Amino acid sequence: MATTFRIAVLASGRGSNLAALIAARDRGELPVEFALVGSDKASAGALRLAEAAGIPTLALDPRGYPDRRAFDLDLFERIAASGAELLVLAGFMRIIDADALAPWIGRMINIHPSLLPKYRGLHTHRRALEAGDAEHGASVHFVTAELDGGPVIAQARLAITPGDDEAQLAQRLLPLEHRLLPAVLGLLASHRLRWDGHTVQLDGQPLAAPLELGAHGLQPAA
Ligand code: GAR
Repeated sequence: MATTFRIAVLASGRGSNLAALIAARDRGELPVEFALVGSDKASAGALRLAEAAGIPTLALDPRGYPDRRAFDLDLFERIAASGAELLVLAGFMRIIDADALAPWIGRMINIHPSLLPKYRGLHTHRRALEAGDAEHGASVHFVTAELDGGPVIAQARLAITPGDDEAQLAQRLLPLEHRLLPAVLGLLASHRLRWDGHTVQLDGQPLAAPLELGAHGLQPAA
């Protein structure tokens, strides 16, 4: 049996991406063990999903700390103590202190609802519509201290159709996110994908462009 890879997940909201990861694990498609699900919001749906799945949870309130750095250092220390080898940000809506995340460089990924480098930050669906873009999408990237700025591993694309509004676009993108994140995590869990701080490598070869999510999973960009 393959060794299981211990992961932690941070989420601030409803947790549908976390649910997709748990479902992929339950189908036997993702050889991971959930060491911890953490949140900055005690009311986050993600925590309820984790509890229901028997995963240890952690809710930390940033208001109980003198500043962002103190919160982040405590949070990341607790994540390390969980024994997680990799940290997944799945709708974690906070900027993270550079010192807190430094030990996780190359071991921390984030899913972001845009075709990075377009639309870092918030309101990505609205901004794609306002720009008149023909396509939109989601990206999974390694996390660095630069907000939504780390190297992109893989993307899922969808066409923007006339009449799309922000909510419709978000709703159409979500099922793609739910395939994209487990697919990338699968590459990491099987040690096929790595980033040494310089080059993203897949199967020992530099990744020249982000992978694309197709009908049959991740594939090299056309
Ligand atoms: C997802 O759309 C994710 O891409 C986005 O938050 C949503 C979380 O949904 N993340 C960001 O905007 C991070 N900058 P979920 O809680 O249902 O997984």
